[in-house]
Amino acid sequence: MKLALLGIAASMALLMTSQTLAADGKAVYNKSCAVCHASLSPKLGDKDAWEPRLKQGADGLVASVLKGQGVMPAKGGNTTLSEADIKAAVEYMLAQLK
Ligand code: HEC
Repeated sequence: MKLALLGIAASMALLMTSQTLAADGKAVYNKSCAVCHASLSPKLGDKDAWEPRLKQGADGLVASVLKGQGVMPAKGGNTTLSEADIKAAVEYMLAQLK
């Protein structure tokens, strides 16, 4: 009985973790990227603007954000972000193109 309860608690904890992870990309985007990408090209959801950039793959895009590109400073200017945060934000942005 105790074990079964532990199992339920563990799977609930897992579920909650994966939900926060999925929400993270959006949260990072809203906090650190939307200030530019809501209006500047490549704009969120603008397939034509993203199309030529997609060839390098998600990893290439993440690398661009980590080191900065053009007007965009490294990590979008938020140096507290981890590589995983950037990756989640890029994945969120790419998901808006579908
Ligand atoms: C100061 C404004 C600004 C902020 C903040 C910003 N970006 Fe950008 N971003 C740009 C601009 C401008 C470009 C186009 C750069 C170029 O190709 O000259 C760009 C390009 C990109 C690209 C395409 C890179 C490539 O290789 O073509 C990605 C992906 C991206 N941004 C993601 C992000 C993410 C994720 C964040 C938040 C962590 C972010 N940006 C924050 C302005 C910004």
